[in-house]
Amino acid sequence: MYLQVTNLKKSYGTGEGRQEILKGVDLTMEKGSTASIIGSSGCGKSTLLNCIGGLEVIDDGDIRVDGKSLKGLGKRELGAYRRDSIGFIFQFFNLLPDLNVRDNIRVAERLTDKPIEYGALLDQLGLAGIERKYPNQLSGGQQQRVSIARALIKNPQLLLCDEPTGALDSATAKDTLILLEKSMLPSARPF
Ligand SMILES: Nc1ncnc2c1ncn2[C@@H]1O[C@H](COP(=O)(O)OP(=O)(O)OP(=O)(O)O)[C@@H](O)[C@H]1O
Ligand SMILES: [Mg+2]
Repeated sequence: MYLQVTNLKKSYGTGEGRQEILKGVDLTMEKGSTASIIGSSGCGKSTLLNCIGGLEVIDDGDIRVDGKSLKGLGKRELGAYRRDSIGFIFQFFNLLPDLNVRDNIRVAERLTDKPIEYGALLDQLGLAGIERKYPNQLSGGQQQRVSIARALIKNPQLLLCDEPTGALDSATAKDTLILLEKSMLPSARPF
C-alpha cells in the first residue's frame, strides 16, 4: 500500500470552540492510482488533503507514505516531507505574481535533487510559447497548467489537487483534467 491513512483525527480550535473535523478517516491507495474525494462544503476534504500533504499536524491516527509514517514529525520534518515528496495544486493557482512562467516553475525545480526535465514538461503541458509571460497575463486554464508544471517538476511521490478545476470554465476544466491524468501516468513522465 503506497498511501495508508488510518483512523485519522483532526480538530480545530480549543475548549468550547473545538470542532472535530476528521473523526477517524481510513484511506488506502496503491502506487500509480488516482482517487477523488467528494463531499459537501465544509466536510473536511481540504483538511484531509492538508494533513496528507503535511500542511497540518494531525491529532491522532496515522498517515504512511511509502511505508514512512508522518506521526510525530515536527514542523521542520514536515517541511522536508512537503518539499521532497508532495506536489500541491490549488483551486486559485497560487502562482507568484512577480515571477514569469519559467521562474514560477524553476523555483520549484530548485527544491529537489531529482527534478524532471524542464523543457519536456513545458512541451507536455503546452507552455512553451508563454514562458516569458507573467501570471496576470494568462488565462485561468494557462495559469493552472503552470501550477501543474510547478507541482510536477519536483517529480513528487504524491500529487494532491484541491479543486484544481474549481476556477475554470467547464471546457477548460475537462481539458485540464485530461492533461493532469496524462501527466501523472508513469509513461508520460519525461525522464
Ligand atoms: N485553519 C482552520 N481553523 C479553524 N477551522 C478550520 C480551519 N480550516 C478549516 N476549518 C473548518 O474545518 C471544516 C472543514 O473545512 P475544509 O476546508 O476541510 O472543508 P472542505 O470539505 O474542503 O469544504 P469546501 O468544499 O467548501 O472546500 C470547516 O468547518 C472549516 O470551517
Ligand atoms: Mg476545500
